[in-house]
Amino acid sequence: MKVTISHIKADIGSLPGHSLVDEKVMERIREYIEDHGKNLVSDFRMAHVGDDAQITMVHTKGVDSEEVHELAWNAFKAGTEVAKKLGLYGAGQDLLKDSFSGNLKGMGPGVAEMEITERPSEPFIVYMMDKTEPGAFNLPIYKMFADPFNTPGLVIDETMHEGFRFEIWDVIEHKAIMLEAPSDLYDILAMIGSKSRYVIKRVYTKPAHKKLPDENVAVISTDKLSLIAGKYVGKDDPAAVVRLQSGLPAAGESLEAFAFPYFVSGWMRGSFNGPIMPVSMKDAKMTRFDGPPRVVALGYVLKGGKLEGPVDMFDDPAFDYARRVAGELTDHIRRMGPFEPHRLPDQEMEYTTLPAVVEKLKNRFVDIEKQEVAK
Ligand code: 13P
Ligand code: 13P
Ligand code: MG
Ligand code: MG
Ligand code: MG
Ligand code: MG
Repeated sequence: MKVTISHIKADIGSLPGHSLVDEKVMERIREYIEDHGKNLVSDFRMAHVGDDAQITMVHTKGVDSEEVHELAWNAFKAGTEVAKKLGLYGAGQDLLKDSFSGNLKGMGPGVAEMEITERPSEPFIVYMMDKTEPGAFNLPIYKMFADPFNTPGLVIDETMHEGFRFEIWDVIEHKAIMLEAPSDLYDILAMIGSKSRYVIKRVYTKPAHKKLPDENVAVISTDKLSLIAGKYVGKDDPAAVVRLQSGLPAAGESLEAFAFPYFVSGWMRGSFNGPIMPVSMKDAKMTRFDGPPRVVALGYVLKGGKLEGPVDMFDDPAFDYARRVAGELTDHIRRMGPFEPHRLPDQEMEYTTLPAVVEKLKNRFVDIEKQEVAK
């Protein structure tokens, strides 16, 4: 049987700044989906990470379903009404268009969805990040599906030994390429290291996979809010759905990719590099310097279109060390204030509020050769 997992998220307001979604907003979204999604989604769950409200839905309408996308859009609209009434900051922030037009693409909310052949047990994890961008998933997804030092199953499990295929998007040129691991490993890394441009969109098994031939096994929400809005409107904080076990990374291999707090861009005003901290739902709020950027992992199994779970996977002392290292890195890099590489490089500041400041000084520049710098 084919089922679709659609994870759709949006920032529709938070408090006090970009810290945390309000429970009343979450309640309104939940109520809207319960009332209007009855004959459409077979099950759903809600979560929030920082200022982003997150909906995980299961249905049989396939990806890019107009009905499912419209349900999520309208639920976020209903939530925005509550956010406005409460005076939450940035109410409706990610709803960049006035009305729904057939598909959420280019409208602001992040979408990670895949149609799958449901296995007798279908375990998966939904990863949700705040204060960073879709390319923040490049490193952990690569580790899960291509790096045997993270995922020894690639070496010791016969069904994983073939490796996986990666669909990589160039989000600047709007182009996509399919590359295979391990044969194209160096080409994959040549691209995905440039994480603000080349973004892993999907991972597939190869046709020769013995248990799941030619299946979508991971998907990441990949939007460029700034390119839609033409100015800084917050970061496109990403989410990913990753299937697990039986010829795919084990749950623990998938989670292992977050034991190392690597650097991502985003954080304060979407303009700074900082370490990503794996946290439980209880710590999924943004505080220090509007961060540090965080990732939450919720584990599920799917059966007959119904969800069991979630399990809050980072709610575990096994990740205390990663959190402590992330805290130390936060302290270290924060002392650089407005300097690179804490602050993002110029080309990535293009859509922030910095160019307007530099523009104001434009007329005061003189030719260095002429040595006429006015006092
Ligand atoms: P499978 O049972 O999914 O094949 O993987 C073994 C496992 O869970 C090791 O951690
Ligand atoms: P969000 O994308 O999470 O709204 O972040 C906005 C911001 O500027 C935080 O400082
Ligand atoms: Mg926000
Ligand atoms: Mg956010
Ligand atoms: Mg955002
Ligand atoms: Mg087992």
